Amino acid sequence: MKINKIILSTWLLVIAMFIYIEARIPAEKTEEDYELAVPMGRMQNYMDKLYFSGSAKNWALSSFYLHEIEEQIEEIAHSDIIENEADISLLAKTLLDQIDLFEEEITKKNQDVFIHEYTNLMGKCNDCHIASKHEYIKIKIPSKSMFENQDFN
Ligand code: HEC
Repeated sequence: MKINKIILSTWLLVIAMFIYIEARIPAEKTEEDYELAVPMGRMQNYMDKLYFSGSAKNWALSSFYLHEIEEQIEEIAHSDIIENEADISLLAKTLLDQIDLFEEEITKKNQDVFIHEYTNLMGKCNDCHIASKHEYIKIKIPSKSMFENQDFN
């Protein structure tokens, strides 16, 4: 009986130590914690919507989607993500100027300018996929929206 009590209290002590050590380990943001595929999937959607709103000359809506893309890129840029030895956050930062320029160009309300900037931004998506060894993920100009339930006009 006495032996059992000693074993039990030893176990409780060990468990308490584990809990204590675990609580003291600083929470580091690792690749596993940050699921990059989530903002990427969102951006894929926004790129579709951006294209069809811009093609419909709906400049208010296209500005909205460009802003949504910018928010995703900003979050990635500020999250210290390294993947496949590529500094994803640093690469993401290089897109911010491009997006600022695009935002300015949208105010010109010119479809050709829009398509030009859209193609440049899309090129940046694919550049980063190449740089991070995901060259098989290729974003292209869509021919039909994924979102048939939304009016882009
Ligand atoms: C800073 C680098 C970087 C930029 C910029 C970038 N990507 Fe990615 N993308 C990645 C990485 C890395 C992955 C792989 C994510 C993973 O490992 O889960 C990825 C994965 C994806 C995927 C696959 C996930 C899925 O849901 O099928 C899509 C789609 C995608 N990106 C779209 C885009 C689009 C659209 C843009 C531009 C608006 C973009 N990406 C810009 C680095 C980037």
